[in-house]
Amino acid sequence: MKDIIETLRAGSGQEFINLSAGNPVILPEVEQLWRDCTAELLAGPEYGEVVCRYGSSQGYQPLIDAVLADFNQRYGLNLTDRNILITPGSQSIYFYAANAFGGYTAPPPSPPDQGGATATQSPPYQGGARGGSLKKIVLPLSPDYTGYGGVSLIPEAVVACKPTLDIDAGAHRFKYRPDFSQLSIDQTTGCVIFSRPCNPTGNVLTDDEVKKIADLAAAFDVPVLVDSAYGPPFPSLNFTEMTPIFGGNIVHCMSLSKAGLPGERIGIAIGDEKIIQILESFQTNMCIHSPRYGQAIATRAIASGALADISINVIRPYYQSKFAIVESTLEQAMPKDLPWFLHRGEGAIFAWLWLKDLPMTDWELYQELKKVGVIVVPGSSFFPGLREDWQHKHECLRISLTATNDEIETAMKRLAQMVEKLYQSVDS
Ligand SMILES: Cc1ncc(COP(=O)(O)O)c(C=O)c1O
Repeated sequence: MKDIIETLRAGSGQEFINLSAGNPVILPEVEQLWRDCTAELLAGPEYGEVVCRYGSSQGYQPLIDAVLADFNQRYGLNLTDRNILITPGSQSIYFYAANAFGGYTAPPPSPPDQGGATATQSPPYQGGARGGSLKKIVLPLSPDYTGYGGVSLIPEAVVACKPTLDIDAGAHRFKYRPDFSQLSIDQTTGCVIFSRPCNPTGNVLTDDEVKKIADLAAAFDVPVLVDSAYGPPFPSLNFTEMTPIFGGNIVHCMSLSKAGLPGERIGIAIGDEKIIQILESFQTNMCIHSPRYGQAIATRAIASGALADISINVIRPYYQSKFAIVESTLEQAMPKDLPWFLHRGEGAIFAWLWLKDLPMTDWELYQELKKVGVIVVPGSSFFPGLREDWQHKHECLRISLTATNDEIETAMKRLAQMVEKLYQSVDS
């Protein structure tokens, strides 16, 4: 990312098609929704209450009520307001969980002095809580969101599981699936996290896969955080059918960032009261609460149903049509006999391309693509916690769907030309 920012800043007269962005596009209908909600807030008596007051750590009560009513009605749930926590962006939920449930547990306290003449000596200092055992943050399907990489204060606590690859060679498509023979969730697991739909791949784990992971974790009372930053009901960036799953040890985590409010920092966690309380305590200590202006406008957009509508009718079709352009251009421009595989586009705002046996690393290819004015993200950044050597980690690219149709088409053609040349140079 640092290199991308520096490249764009340096400019040096070169025009780039930037397919690296994680920022959502500002769609006019979405911006208008937030303007309208803001105008309503400004015109009403609530403004001062919202902006000039501290609030509860759990969140702005009208927003909690709006989420509650929406989810109970939409999914037939029986949530109470104790099942909901509003956070400053969803990234913070993973940070709270990773550090509340994962990392080093404190060693057991030494037994109290039994009243002898000499006081028992305290154990030697072992570096904060490091004397305890390590509770891991398990990422069951690698690659996954790069933001999980730094989520724990104890970097070695984040461990990811290598997937199996479901390849359709004739169609040049593939899909990652969790490898349950490798996935280990036990008493050393603090929590489990995965994104669904997935950034960077657009993968959507099936309902059965989610339930299987949750069941494995439930046996050890381990919370499972399902990162639904791209999921329904907002922003609904799923291009395939998927059902959000609730209950037990599952914490359904949402973000309003991809629904047009990344700057307002709103995340929503829905789960068991005991888990929510722990996350809330962490939040109180860390930042007290999420800013209230964003929460107040989100309340209006959710309660009126406008956010769910705009998600399905504007946000989803926008990115889905961009994915179709990536797909059709690659199909046209990529040589049929090369081992290129596009991940099934099941959601999110990215396409993920695997170039099997790529004759250079993903990082080198990224540098080569810059020379023809195309910026993508090297795929190796998206395997946090996967420490083993795996050639595949260096054979993928993430392509953002945030550019214009023409830009995407041009960039995919340049990419195809480049890839063809690279593989030819090895053959000759
Ligand atoms: C999968 C995933 N989870 C979480 C986040 C963080 O989102 P937020 O803005 O809600 O903190 C992102 C942001 O891009 C993301 O892609």
